[in-house]
Amino acid sequence: MCFEFERILLDRLGPGVTVIDEVTGFRYFDARDLLGFVDGTANPTGLDLPASARVGDEDADFAGGSYVVVQKYLHDMQAWARIPTPEQEAIIGRTKIDNIEIDDDDAPRKSHKSLATIEDADGNEYDILRDNMPFGRPGQNEFGTYFIGYSRYLWVTEKMLQRMYIGEPPGAYDRLLDVSTPHTGTTFFAPTRPMLQTLVQAN
Ligand code: HEM
Repeated sequence: MCFEFERILLDRLGPGVTVIDEVTGFRYFDARDLLGFVDGTANPTGLDLPASARVGDEDADFAGGSYVVVQKYLHDMQAWARIPTPEQEAIIGRTKIDNIEIDDDDAPRKSHKSLATIEDADGNEYDILRDNMPFGRPGQNEFGTYFIGYSRYLWVTEKMLQRMYIGEPPGAYDRLLDVSTPHTGTTFFAPTRPMLQTLVQAN
C-alpha cells in the first residue's frame, strides 16, 4: 500500500520534486528498534491519542492537523554491543527483554524515557505519538531508527529534543546519542483532508 502510494504521489508531482534520500523502514521483532528495545510502549492510546497528536480548538484554523517531526538516526551497533545490558537498560529507562519501566528518579543520570517525559509546573504530562521505524542494510553496516513523532503542540517535541541534547541538568544529555546520530530531519504540518481541499480550491 505505501509503495503504491509513493509511486502515485511521485508520478503526480513529476519534475516538481527531486528525491534526495529514500529510506524503507520495516517492523522488527516485538516492535523493537534495532538496539533491541521495544519501542512505542508509552504511546498515548484511546482518547489520549487525539488529545496528544492532533491540534485542537486552541488553533481553530489548523484543528485536526498534526505537527510531524522526523529524524533519521544511524546507530553505531558495534559501540552499542560493547555496552553491558544493565547499562543499556539504564540508558533507555526500560528493561531489555521484558520492557519494564525503570524508576530512575534518584539516578545520577536520567534515562532516555525520563528525558523525553514532559511535565508542566502543575504536573500535567504532555505526550506525543511516536511511530519510529527501524531501517538498515546489514551488508553496508547501516542500522538506523527513523524517528517519527506526531504532536498537537510543536513545543512538546522541541522540549523533548532540548532535554535529550542539552540534558537535564544541562550536560547530562541522553546517552542514546553516544551511539545514535541524526543525519537528517525536518518538521512537517499534516493538515486534515478538508483543509487540503480548501488549499486546492484557493488555487
Ligand atoms: C535513536 C532514536 C530513538 C530511539 C532508538 C528511541 C527509542 C525509545 C525507546 C526504546 C523507548 C522506551 C519505550 C517506549 O515507551 O517507547 C523510548 C521512549 C520514548 N521516546 Fe524515544 N527513541 C529515539 C528518539 C526519540 C526522540 C528524538 C524523541 C523525541 C523528540 C523520543 C521520544 C520518546 C518518548 C516521548 C518516549 C516515552 C517516554 C515515556 O515513557 O513517557 N525518542 N524511545
